[in-house]
Amino acid sequence: MVDLQMKRDLTTQEVLDLLFSYTPKIAGEKDIDRLLILMANLGRELVVADRCTLWLLSNDGQTLWTRVAHGVPEIRMPADKGFAGEAVRTGEPIIIKDAYEDSRFNREIDLETGYRTQAMMVMPIRTNDGRVMGAFQAINKMTPDGGFTQKDLEHLNLTATYSGKTLESAMLYEEVEVTQRDAIYMLGELAESRSRETGNHVKRVAEYCALLGKYLGLSVADIDLLKLASPMHDAGKVATPDAILKKPGRLTEEEMETMKLHTEEGRMVLSRSVKRIFQTAAEIAITHHEKWNGKGYPKGLAGEDIPLFGRIVAVADVFDALSNDRCYKKAWPIEKVAQLFQEELGLHFDPKIGQILLDHLPEFVQINFIFRDTFVEGPH
Ligand code: C2E
Ligand code: SIN
Ligand code: SIN
Ligand code: FE
Ligand code: FE
Repeated sequence: MVDLQMKRDLTTQEVLDLLFSYTPKIAGEKDIDRLLILMANLGRELVVADRCTLWLLSNDGQTLWTRVAHGVPEIRMPADKGFAGEAVRTGEPIIIKDAYEDSRFNREIDLETGYRTQAMMVMPIRTNDGRVMGAFQAINKMTPDGGFTQKDLEHLNLTATYSGKTLESAMLYEEVEVTQRDAIYMLGELAESRSRETGNHVKRVAEYCALLGKYLGLSVADIDLLKLASPMHDAGKVATPDAILKKPGRLTEEEMETMKLHTEEGRMVLSRSVKRIFQTAAEIAITHHEKWNGKGYPKGLAGEDIPLFGRIVAVADVFDALSNDRCYKKAWPIEKVAQLFQEELGLHFDPKIGQILLDHLPEFVQINFIFRDTFVEGPH
């Protein structure tokens, strides 16, 4: 039995207060995970349930998924199972006094967890144009009589209607964001993957940059910008001839001069967009081979005349180049990488940024491992 069935239903005033307290939180939230949790909490409080879950239907319609806490892996179940699945399939709400008296109920989860599911209520959630996109599921009424009422169903319906619209726009926003990020990474990889690297280079550089940005104390907005812009640092390599880009051995001085043009090529292409991400990427492209002591290229800028993002990417890019195989060299052992950074503090690298790398080396090594290259041998 569920104990502590000692709460009471909300008064109309309390319902309004609850809605007013949640509305600004929900309206200000773009993250789908956090929205799911916020809305589930709202639903639970409104109908005085012990638990409330907001299930979303996957794009392919095969799975219902949810989150119980931010950062915790999602929970998934087949969309043709259980009461939530049925509500999604039929588009009709379900209200049950005792799940154990209903043959549709699957007791396995209760048997595993020791929880006793009793009263249950499920309300489908629809998109603006009426398509079912998921369901609200409330379990166990916490009032003494223990059953969900018609009033609860109305309250959950209200929440479901509101949730549907909000989630739909949050999902659209996420879709656009993810599309943008994928396009950017693909652009970055396009340049890189003509050489033997698999393209994970740009992902790693983005991750190292974010980590350096974090320890430098940059704002979340700047870190996000850096993470999106840095993968394009070598976009100008698309203009580098294969004979140079893929050369298995050392470049001649002349070849190196051609190679160096990738900074200016990148800047030219990327600055065609007036959008902030591309403008930032253009700045990174033209500055990521500058050195703190003024001996870099193409301009020979020194110290803080080199834009911050360029100085950050310089550290990330060289760390990655040294820690991995390239068509022209093998990966260095980490001790040798660390030694180079130590020696080059204040020469090649901004000493503050290089020191961060040295102080947090294991975290950088871990990123390198997570996004490691899996080589496809043979002609490339
Ligand atoms: P990358 O492979 O992404 O390397 C980026 C930067 O990492 C290099 O910029 C350099 O500062 C550092 N780096 C890479 N390997 C070594 C190394 O063995 N020793 C030291 N001390 N630093 C290293 P850099 O030199 O301006 O090169 C820019 C790009 O030019 C490289 O990007 C790579 O695509 C190409 N490249 C440079 N040297 C060679 C080479 O000898 N052979 C070939 N095929 N390509 C090269
Ligand atoms: C989906 O499959 O559409 C949901 C995305 C997710 O699982 O996070
Ligand atoms: C930016 O390009 O938006 C800022 C980078 C910098 O501080 O130089
Ligand atoms: Fe480069
Ligand atoms: Fe690079």
